[in-house]
Amino acid sequence: MSETETVLLVGGGGREHAIARALSTDSACELYACASNRNPGTAALAAGFETVSETDVDGIVAYATDIDADLAVIGPESALEAGVADALDDAGIYTFGPDADAARIETDKAFQREFMEAESIPGCPDYAVFEDTEAACEYIEASDVDLAVKPAGLTGGKGVKVIGDQVDREGAKQYLRENDYDEVVLEERLIGEEFTVQAFVANGDVRPTPAVQDHKRAYEGDEGPNTGGMGSYSDAGPELPFMTSEDYADAVEILEAVVDALPEYKGVLYGQFMLGADGPKVVEFNARFGDPEATNTLPVLNTSFLDVLTAAREGESLPQLEFAGKATVCKYAVPDGYPTDPKSGAKITVDEESVGDALLFYASVDEREDGLYTTTSRSFAVVGVADSISEAEAQAEDALAAAGDGLRVRHDVGKAALVQRRIDHMNELRGE
Ligand code: AMP
Ligand code: GLY
Repeated sequence: MSETETVLLVGGGGREHAIARALSTDSACELYACASNRNPGTAALAAGFETVSETDVDGIVAYATDIDADLAVIGPESALEAGVADALDDAGIYTFGPDADAARIETDKAFQREFMEAESIPGCPDYAVFEDTEAACEYIEASDVDLAVKPAGLTGGKGVKVIGDQVDREGAKQYLRENDYDEVVLEERLIGEEFTVQAFVANGDVRPTPAVQDHKRAYEGDEGPNTGGMGSYSDAGPELPFMTSEDYADAVEILEAVVDALPEYKGVLYGQFMLGADGPKVVEFNARFGDPEATNTLPVLNTSFLDVLTAAREGESLPQLEFAGKATVCKYAVPDGYPTDPKSGAKITVDEESVGDALLFYASVDEREDGLYTTTSRSFAVVGVADSISEAEAQAEDALAAAGDGLRVRHDVGKAALVQRRIDHMNELRGE
C-alpha cells in the first residue's frame, strides 16, 4: 500500500491543470499548487493554492516547506531557469524537473546547439552563434540558404523568425537591429512537418509518450505570428498520420542520446522535431512538458504519474508507460488580440456545463472574487479524447460552446482537411 505523498505543483497554465488532473486521479496524492495566477481548474483539484510567482524561488521553497511537501513538479521553463528545482532539491524536496544548469538545454539556445554538436546528438542543423548584431546581419547577407533567426534566451516561443516564411532577409536584419539581443543563433531553415515527442526521464531511463503536433501560428491555415501554441492533436498510436514508426523511433533515439549525455537529468524532456525527407531534425529541446502537448498526453496516460514521480525519487527504474490508445485534439481559446496585442483583464465566462464529453483545462486566467479574467496569455483549452482524430476533433469543437465573448479559437486544428494537408506535404517531400 502506498502512503500519501504531498506534491507541490508549480505553474498556473493549462499544462499544469493537466498535470494536476493526472496526479489527482491517484488517491495517494495530496496536491498543492502555486502560481502567479489563480488557475481555477488546478485550485479545484488542490488541497491548497498559493499565489506566488513561478520565479520567486524563496517564496516557492517557503510554501513547499509550509505544506511539508514530499515531492515537487515544475510546469514552466521560467521556474526551471530561475533555479526553483535546485532550491527545492537543496531543501530536501525531490523535484521532477531539471536543475537550472541542465535546463539550459531549453533556456539557452546557443548552449542547446553547442551541446548537440559536442555530444554528437543526431539531428542538429547547421548553425552559428553571434553576440554581435552586425556580425549576425553580415552572416545573413552572405548566406546562400534561408535561415532561422533565434534569440538565445527564452521568448515564450515567440522570438524565432524564419527567413522565407515570416520575414525576408531585410526583415530579419531589421528584427535583429530593433531588438539587439545579447546572443542569437542563426541556423539552417528546416523544411517539413513538425512534431513533438515528450519523455519522462530519471535515473537514466527515458519513457517516451505518443507524438503530438502543435499549431504555433495564430490564425487558421498556419498564418500569422507564432504563439505559445493554439492547439494540438495526437493519434491512437505513438505516431501521427504523416509519420512512420521509424520516424518516431528516430526521435526517441535522439532523446535517449541527450539523456546518455546528461545522465543526471530528471523531469520531462521534450523534443520538437522537423520531419523532412531524411528523417527528423531537432528544432529545439524543452526541459518540461509542452503546453498544449501535456493536455494531449496526460489524459491518455493510464500509468499513475505519481508512481513515475516516486520511482524517480527512489532512484528506481521508471515504470513502463501504458496509454489508453485514444486520439486527442486540443483547441485553445485565447484573448482577442493574442499574441501581439492581447486584451488582458477582460472578464470572460466559461460554461463548464457545455463541455460535454471533452476535457476542460483552464490556462492563464485569473479567478477573482467576481469571476474569471483574461491575462496576456491563453485562456483555456478543450480536449476531445476518442478513437480517431476526427471524432476527438468533433468533441473538442462541440465543447467550444463553453467559450463566451472576447475569445478566439483556431477551428482548423485536428480537422480532416488540415491533417490531410500534412500527409500530402510529407508525401511530396518524400517524393511519393
Ligand atoms: P522554437 O522557439 O525554437 O520552438 O521555435 C519556434 C518555431 O520556429 C518552431 O516551432 C518552428 O516552427 C520555427 N523554427 C525554429 N527553428 C527552425 C528552423 N531551424 N527551421 C525552420 N523553422 C524553425
Ligand atoms: N507547445 C510548445 C511549447 O510548449 O513550447
